[in-house]
Amino acid sequence: MRKSWVMSLVTACIVVAVLYALTGPVFSEEKQRTYVGTAKCKTCHKTAAQGEQFTIWEKSKHAKAFEALAGEDAKKIAQERGIEDPQTAAECLKCHVTAHGVDKKFLGEKFAATDGVGCESCHGAGGDFYKSKTMKAIASGEIEPASVGLVMPDKETCLGCHNEESPTFEGFEYEEMIAKIAHPIPEERKAKYKVTE
Ligand code: HEC
Ligand code: HEC
Ligand code: HEC
Ligand code: HEC
Repeated sequence: MRKSWVMSLVTACIVVAVLYALTGPVFSEEKQRTYVGTAKCKTCHKTAAQGEQFTIWEKSKHAKAFEALAGEDAKKIAQERGIEDPQTAAECLKCHVTAHGVDKKFLGEKFAATDGVGCESCHGAGGDFYKSKTMKAIASGEIEPASVGLVMPDKETCLGCHNEESPTFEGFEYEEMIAKIAHPIPEERKAKYKVTE
């Protein structure tokens, strides 16, 4: 009696393992989420109480990354590479705008490539996390950020663009560079989400 029970348990485990091995990769395949655009993030990440993330970004070089491709320096770099117009060249846009090469059906109404390296270049496409309820659930730890596509960026995120493939690359000091773009949520506000027993 006890033996057959153990046997069925073993069989069940094998069946589950085989099913997982077969279907796991299919289910875990990354789905394409919609890029909502920096203007969407602005609605809740702008005030001093929130931490002025939008304003900090707007004043940063990342917000000017598309514009920079129209400048004299860009034209010179492009010319050396036989590129006509850097603002339409994939060789440049891949690092100077958000969501380059993504199918238009995944770009929201407010999405604008002219915003350059926007919030979603680092934090991931916002389509499944930008709603207030979801954002608050992430902040309070009820949902894993990654489960709705929110990336909490690290050094690897930066190195995706700050690397030797960039024609102007002269190295990347993470600590120094992260300090230049810091946009934290104020501690008082964060405390709101801390679970207290
Ligand atoms: C409807 C309002 C709203 C919108 C739109 C919104 N957020 Fe948020 N977000 C929040 C709230 C609320 C929090 C919790 C912190 C707070 O209260 O400021 C938060 C927190 C975050 C956090 C920190 C999460 C954590 O683990 O603590 C990140 C990162 C973030 N938002 C990025 C974005 C990005 C990128 C966009 C645009 C794609 C965006 N948000 C759009 C409301 C919003
Ligand atoms: C691999 C990503 C990447 C590619 C591809 C890339 N860039 Fe950049 N670009 C960067 C980064 C990152 C910077 C910031 C400085 C640095 O580390 O190179 C930058 C800076 C620049 C600057 C300086 C902007 C300023 O404010 O002075 C110019 C001009 C520029 N890039 C032009 C181009 C052109 C033209 C192309 C296409 C031929 C191109 N880039 C391709 C990532 C890239
Ligand atoms: C160049 C990459 C980059 C861009 C662009 C960017 N962020 Fe961030 N963001 C980061 C990094 C890095 C962190 C810190 C992550 C951590 O603390 O683990 C962060 C953290 C945050 C946090 C949480 C801060 C905290 O104290 O927990 C919020 C909210 C946020 N970003 C919102 C935004 C919004 C809104 C935009 C656009 C207006 C934006 N970010 C653009 C890289 C970026
Ligand atoms: C999608 C590509 C991309 C990603 C990801 C990215 N950057 Fe950038 N970054 C750029 C480009 C392009 C520029 C140059 C923009 C310009 O000068 O017009 C730049 C410029 C900068 C600058 C200004 C350069 C200076 O010397 O003042 C800082 C600081 C910076 N990035 C920090 C970061 C950090 C930190 C991260 C990761 C959290 C990061 N970047 C992720 C593309 C990117």
